Amino acid sequence: MQSDVITIFDTTLRDGEQSPGASLDVHEKVDIAHQLKRLSVDVIEAGFPVSSQVQFDAVERIAGEVPGPSICGLARSVEKDIRSAWAAIKQAPSNRIHTFISTSPVHMKHKLKKEPADVLKMAVAAVEMAKSLCDDVEFSPEDAGRTELGFLCEVVEAVIGAGATTVNIPDTVGYMLPAEYAEMIGTLVDNVSNIGDAVISTHCHNDLGLAVANSLEGVRRGARQVECTMNGLGERAGNASLEEIVMSIHTRSDYFPGLTTAISTEQIVPTSQMVSRMTGMHVQANKSIVGANAFAHESGIHQDGMLKHRETYEIMTPADVGWSKSRMVLGRHSGRHGFQSRLEALGYHVADEDLDRAYERFLLVADKKKEVFDEDLAAIIDDEVREVVQTFKLEHLQVSSGTGTIPSATVRIKVLDEMRQEAAWGDGPVDAAYTAITKAAGVDVTLEEYVIRAVTSGRKALGEVSVRIREKEKTVLGRGASTDVVEASTKAFIDALNRLTEQRSGENG
Ligand code: KIV
Ligand code: ZN
Repeated sequence: MQSDVITIFDTTLRDGEQSPGASLDVHEKVDIAHQLKRLSVDVIEAGFPVSSQVQFDAVERIAGEVPGPSICGLARSVEKDIRSAWAAIKQAPSNRIHTFISTSPVHMKHKLKKEPADVLKMAVAAVEMAKSLCDDVEFSPEDAGRTELGFLCEVVEAVIGAGATTVNIPDTVGYMLPAEYAEMIGTLVDNVSNIGDAVISTHCHNDLGLAVANSLEGVRRGARQVECTMNGLGERAGNASLEEIVMSIHTRSDYFPGLTTAISTEQIVPTSQMVSRMTGMHVQANKSIVGANAFAHESGIHQDGMLKHRETYEIMTPADVGWSKSRMVLGRHSGRHGFQSRLEALGYHVADEDLDRAYERFLLVADKKKEVFDEDLAAIIDDEVREVVQTFKLEHLQVSSGTGTIPSATVRIKVLDEMRQEAAWGDGPVDAAYTAITKAAGVDVTLEEYVIRAVTSGRKALGEVSVRIREKEKTVLGRGASTDVVEASTKAFIDALNRLTEQRSGENG
């Protein structure tokens, strides 16, 4: 069963989305899934269907709309979860059920309150049940990293006997060191009699910053699937980062002889940027491969070396991973058809009813900016094409600020059918606008995070703002883009209020 093509199992939409504050709506998940298909991942773990209606709907829509990669749903080792996972993924041309149960002493005693023998029985029963529904079944002994090795081998052998086609070995709490993780995989390879009947998979968390190193050592000892997320997103310190795993295997073929992945590496940066924008989890500038400085050579010595021979300081090219120079693709004379084809080339599937609105917006931006780049198009689509119910709509905004004046704002917003107007002053124009909107909307929220970035370089760049607001225990993200940063800020705030309202009504109804 061992192959030289490492299966890339992307769990951005499941484990990645468990990252605090990174929650995505159904529409965003579907967009990311389309992009993951363009990246050519082998498996998309689209969510945990039983955990909420939104999760179920997202997995079901991805299963129905994204052919190509296998679509996987997560399930605890209980019947209700497994049935729900199957119901969500069954229409996908290729699908997988991933079921798990904890096997470490600390989890079995304190979380499950079960004896090892009972856990073993539940694992086998879960795999048998999943197998009765779906040919492709993955099993994970959760917290394998702290599981007693003899018991781990026993569980893995039993679930393969019950029909598991992949056995995933999670270092759930990111506790292991590379040599230890390699040894654990090696122990399974050497001691589990039927190990050749299943693919061994790695699933490493990054609490000690070793998720990628551990996964790669797992591969060296025989794992042929790696579970990872874009930008290393995930619970706490995150999961192994897809881009680092893939580029390590591709760049160091001397260390991984004969091994490769099917990933279209030039889609790495576009995927990273989409995930970062939609989750509001910003990528640090010095992040490997996808950070803004990953290929920037600042010092004179390095620049000189690069000019003489690129390989003096560069082990892969920016183009290999999708960093392309911003290109002017469209201008204000571009027609609707050209606009639509460019969007399609960029991987956006915009419904007809949204296309008109997006095109109108494009013309407005093109008028102000003259040159419209691919990154601008992504921001326009992101800003215009949302499935969020527009409870609050910005109708009018006027701000006044400057040296020696007190910044003030007047806003008019439509709240369902009612028009409301308020004025306020603040520390700056954005603060004044936010205070006026909060009064008009009649909400009590706290602004937790405000981030602004220019989509492209230059004075006429689109500004993209993301805000995180909190109401009691709930935090939501809002986004907005405009060539006017106060307008972008206001849109982001209103988007956050709309999402908050939508989430509230989802909980009440
Ligand atoms: O980290 C973990 O153990 C998991 C399992 C559900 C595979 O995410
Ligand atoms: Zn995990």
